This record gives sequence, C-alpha cells and structure tokens, in this order.
Amino acid sequence: MQSLCLKDWHDPGCEKLAAQCTTGPCPITPGFIPAQPMNTPETWTELQGWRAGLLWFPDPHSPQARHETDGLLVTGQSADGVVRVLAIGPYRDLATRYPDLPVTHWPGLCIAPGFVDLHIHYPQTDVIGSPADGLLPWLEHYTFPHEKQFADPAYAHEVSAFFLDELMRHGVTTALCFATAHPESVDAFMAEAQKRHLRMVTGKVLQDRHSPDSLRDTDTALSLRQTEDLIRRWHGVDRLGYAITPRFAPTSTEAQLHGAGEIAQQFPDVWIQSHVAENLDEIRWVHELFPQARSYLDVYDRAGLLRQRSVYAHCIHLDETDRRRMTEVGATAAISPTSNLFLGSGFFDYTAADAAGLHYGLASDVGGGTSFSPFHTMHAAYTVARQSVGRPGISLAPEHLWWQHTAGAAAALDLNGQVGNLLPGCEADFVVLNPKATPLLARRTAQTESLAEWLFAMVVLGDERLIAHTVVQGHIAAPAGMSDNRA
Ligand code: GUN
Ligand code: ZN
Repeated sequence: MQSLCLKDWHDPGCEKLAAQCTTGPCPITPGFIPAQPMNTPETWTELQGWRAGLLWFPDPHSPQARHETDGLLVTGQSADGVVRVLAIGPYRDLATRYPDLPVTHWPGLCIAPGFVDLHIHYPQTDVIGSPADGLLPWLEHYTFPHEKQFADPAYAHEVSAFFLDELMRHGVTTALCFATAHPESVDAFMAEAQKRHLRMVTGKVLQDRHSPDSLRDTDTALSLRQTEDLIRRWHGVDRLGYAITPRFAPTSTEAQLHGAGEIAQQFPDVWIQSHVAENLDEIRWVHELFPQARSYLDVYDRAGLLRQRSVYAHCIHLDETDRRRMTEVGATAAISPTSNLFLGSGFFDYTAADAAGLHYGLASDVGGGTSFSPFHTMHAAYTVARQSVGRPGISLAPEHLWWQHTAGAAAALDLNGQVGNLLPGCEADFVVLNPKATPLLARRTAQTESLAEWLFAMVVLGDERLIAHTVVQGHIAAPAGMSDNRA
C-alpha cells in the first residue's frame, strides 16, 4: 500500500504520495527534509494527542515561526521505537481525522519545541557565579580545581543527574555538553541521560598540557585511545552521541590535536567541540604556542578538526577569513552571550557572521554562563547584538532568537528534522509554556498585539517558571526530575 506523504498529516490539502517527497525537499514546507523516510501511520503505536497553543518553524532553516492558538500535536511511537510527531496543525482541522485519539488538553498553555543548548559544561554546574578577572584566571582558580573531582564516578553520577534534571526543568531537551578529562565523567553522564531517554551529546575532554595534575592527560596516546573506546561504547546508543572534545588549543599539544583529527576522520559522524577566539589574552597565548598558524581557528583546521558537525564556542574575535572558512566547511559557532558578558570576553558579531553565511545557534556555556535558562540566554543575545562596539548595534527579532535556540541550533548540529522543531518526523521532545506564569508575565503578555511582541515579552521576562511541563519522548518529565518510570 502506498502511504500518503507526511505533509498530508499537517496539511489536509496535500495529496502527494510519500515516495514523492520523502526523498527530497518538500514542495509545501520549503527546506524540510525528513530525518528518515517516514513509515506509514499504520505502523505507529501509542498515538497521543496534545491540545494547546502551538509554536513551531514550518521551514526549519528560516526563523519564521508559526503560531496556532488552539492546536493539536499528534505523537506516536514509530517502528524504530522513537516517539515522534505524526501531525501538527489547528485542532479544528486535525481532531476529526483522529477520532479515538487520547488527548491531553492544556487550555491557555502553548506547546513549543524543546530547547537545544549548543555548548554547556555539566561539571561546571557548581562553578556558576565564580568571579574572576577574565577567562584564564577563572579557569585557573575555579574551573580546573573543581573539575578534578569528576574522577570519582559516584560524584560524576550525582552531578549528571542534577544537571540533566535542571536542564529539563528549564525546557532544554538536547545539549552538546563537555564532560571532564576523566572517561568516568562521560560514562556517568551518558548513563544518566540514557535513563532519562534524552538526546544528548558529550565527550571526554582532551587536555595534555598547561593543566593541573589530576586533570591533565599524562599519556597523550592513552587519551586518544580512551576517546576511541568511548565513541565505540556510546556513539549512536539510544539517543546518545559522542563529541571529540579538545578543551582549547592552549591545553593540547600538537600531537593530541592531530590525534583527535585522525579520530575525527575515522568517525565522520561524531561531533567535534571546542572553544575558539573567546578572549584576547587567550588569543595572544595561542599565537605564542602555535606561531605557524595563521589564526587561532587555523590551529584546529590544520589538525583536521574543522568540518561539518564541529561546534566552536564563542567565535568572538574571528576575522573574515576565519568566518568564511567555517562556512565553507560547515562548522558551527555556539554563541554564549551570558558567559561572554560575565567573563568580559566580548560581543559576538551577528552582522559579520550573517555576511559570511556562518552557521550558528545559542548556548548557555554554564558555568562561564550564568544561567541554565534559554530565556536568559536569548535575552542576553539580544543585549549583545544591541551594543554598538565599533559597529552599529542591531535588534534581533524575537522569532530569530527563539529559532537560534531551537530549530536553528538543531540544524547547526546537523539534527534538523530530529530535534528543535515540531514538524512531522521530529522526535517528540517539547515544552509547554505558561505565558501567565507570573503576575508580570500575565499582565504583559495579555497586552501584546503580535506574535513578535508576545514572544519578546517571554524572552525578556521569562525563566523556568514559564516552563509548565517538559515532555521528553512523549512522557511528561516530573518537576523534580524524571527518573525512569517506564518499562
Ligand atoms: N576555554 C577553555 N576551557 C573553557 C571553559 O571551561 N569555559 C570557557 N568559557 N572557555 C574555556
Ligand atoms: Zn565552554
């Protein structure tokens, strides 16, 4: 039997057959390509309806949001065991097509994609708010000493569990996350994420110099073998992914960076994550350590660490050649505005990034960053872009800010069609917003006259109180954190 195109499930007018558009771009939703060929609806089980307002991005590559005040999201378990979105649209259009569907109804609330954090350090959960005179003293006095504790698996499990529950409480359902130099820190994080059915990516930090004892890789070859072992153990298991994670150029020898690049070549679908061009003192140090490199970014490029699925945090002090090179290879900038403001690192240049066609998305960078909240990060990104710092400030639209932390971040991670959106085929991870969560939010959102104004009120006034529920894989995460309550 030929199945109808997945478009039929969110656009009642579409009569195309699946074969016509699961293999290429959809003619109705430009830019949308399903993550994998869709199964016929008949093979899906445990169908569930969620009725509320809806916010999503019909074209995941464009920051144009669509909002339905009374919508229906239909989810179900597809043949591969993953809970996905089957249909999305106005309640009045979809409800009659699913007459026996069990529906959870949240009047007055709004379902939106789970947030995607492009760069965060789980071992720095207890480092947030440690003041220092910039990045390098902050690393030396607070971060490095603290991270030594993650050699202890019990400690790493306890912090991972708290961290993941905290992410969900704030509506973040996917993150690209640093662990520490200890392989145990990766095992603990992956196990806790797996228990919660989350899509998470992490990796053992590679740092074989300029780091204290108990955090430094004392055997470079061993650190690379540990990386390979962890990739084989975790990458692609359930919803987990691995990221090759050199901390930053100053704490790795050339041998370690090049070794990491060779592993990247061997495993083309793992991610790569690091930091680049964050702070002026750091950049001076990189030039001393790598005099042959054209730029800080070039150190990674020469080592084979710049490619698709490579995500570099900060990217503040890049030049045009760097930006063009990142665009050319499909690398991503993880913009971390609360961290950049807190550590006094500088201001990401959106205008130059857009001129170069750079891929980017938002990140908290906890614990240099000061909050787990995507609302705080979006607000800080707006503030950063507004500054006139040798160039005119710009006003980022609220839909654009939201996109940078959802569909745009997912696309930058090469997870378009999987997370960060609610299009059919996307995995069913979403948040339920309560725009009346506080007296001020209720008052302010009631007076808005457009989608942009409504979203902006939430960006500026929001925090975790806005997140009434976080739903992961079709299950509502308990407010105090979701333990595995499923068979
Ligand atoms: N550069 C190297 N390590 C770090 C880190 O942990 N945080 C930030 N913000 N920058 C870094
Ligand atoms: Zn960082």
